Amino acid sequence: MEGFTYRGGTLHAEEVSAVELAERYGTPLYVYSRGYLRHQFRRIREAFAEIDPLICFAVKANTSAAVIHTFAAEGAGADVVSGGELYRARRAGIPANRIVFAGVGKTAEEIEYAIQEEILGFTVESEAELHRISECATRIGGTARVDIRVNPDVDPKTHKYTSTGKKENKFGVDLERAVKAYELAARLPGVEIVGLHMHIGSPVMSIDPYVEALERVAPVVRELKAAYPTLRHLDIGGGLGIRYRDEQEDLDPARLAEALLPTLRDLGLKVLLEPGRFLTGNAGILLTRVQYLKEGPEKTFVIMDAAMNDLIRPALYEAYHKILPVRETSDTLTGDLVGPVCESGDFFAQNRELPAVQAGELLAVMSAGAYGYVMASNYNSRGRPAEVMVSGGTAKLVQRRETWDNLVAGETIPAWE
Ligand SMILES: Cc1ncc(COP(=O)(O)O)c(C=O)c1O
Repeated sequence: MEGFTYRGGTLHAEEVSAVELAERYGTPLYVYSRGYLRHQFRRIREAFAEIDPLICFAVKANTSAAVIHTFAAEGAGADVVSGGELYRARRAGIPANRIVFAGVGKTAEEIEYAIQEEILGFTVESEAELHRISECATRIGGTARVDIRVNPDVDPKTHKYTSTGKKENKFGVDLERAVKAYELAARLPGVEIVGLHMHIGSPVMSIDPYVEALERVAPVVRELKAAYPTLRHLDIGGGLGIRYRDEQEDLDPARLAEALLPTLRDLGLKVLLEPGRFLTGNAGILLTRVQYLKEGPEKTFVIMDAAMNDLIRPALYEAYHKILPVRETSDTLTGDLVGPVCESGDFFAQNRELPAVQAGELLAVMSAGAYGYVMASNYNSRGRPAEVMVSGGTAKLVQRRETWDNLVAGETIPAWE
């Protein structure tokens, strides 16, 4: 299925016209397809059905309560990386015993909150963190279940900012040090070893790095499993890439499962996956209205009402997002698609063949459902956009647009005298 298609020459989110959405809720506007969220979740579930994995939605990709709740209703768990994400996941209906908590800098406060919630496990990123987790568990009289994140030193062939499983990255513990880290965990009070974790990066467009990482990790898993009978999980992370460009394909979960299942079956552990982008990326678009066309001395600028504060991926990673006209046209213009923020990095497309649009017309920035709204900011004192979820012919507002009052709500001007 596709979440966004043309019907009668107009882009629709499922059965609702994007023109209608823009009129009803204003722009810039994030629009999510509930049907596509579920479709993507089920693709992974079905691919790995034989081993009945726990699919923990990587909440960092999209923290909308409506999105998290959609996955909770499918039986998902959550992968969180902060106390705030844990709070959101719980509030949106994910059971604590399906939540794993990663991240290299967990604070004592976050750790104690997670122990009290009785989450499924901490994804531990260093020996220092193991000590802190043990101290926290002892202090509050709880038990912290831990997976140690091993760094398989595999090149996921992605952007340098989103590669996480190579030696030079800050994540996890080197494979050579992993056994020692488990020995430490076994000695520490308040800590129960339950699993092993790996995540190689994002977005990964081929299955080879997963196969390579699992091959490297499997002997260590076998050794650890023999040493620690409580070890019962193997978390293979997320990172499954999606189609951003026409010539790309989603990393096919069926092919991934086919390649990994022989080893996973043989290891005999409960498998966890942590997809984020795969579940939400192409389930969301950013709708924006053209403000002005400006002829520069060298090129044409199409100036929209959305900006880098709404979607920072092009500025941050030079990420490519397809741009579609809401009213279908085959006419084009070549130029830059930019926002109103005072930065030259505020662009969505550069020197690209774009739909020929006039001021007042609508465009859709595609594949904006992952790492979109979650990275939005108030830069240039712009309120963050609204979010809408569509299911069939029904659209619902799931996050209202921020107002100028919201911008200043936490501020005070001190009285110095
Ligand atoms: C530990 C971990 N799991 C899962 C993810 C999700 O990655 P993706 O959204 O590409 O699936 C990330 C992304 O940074 C991560 O660091």
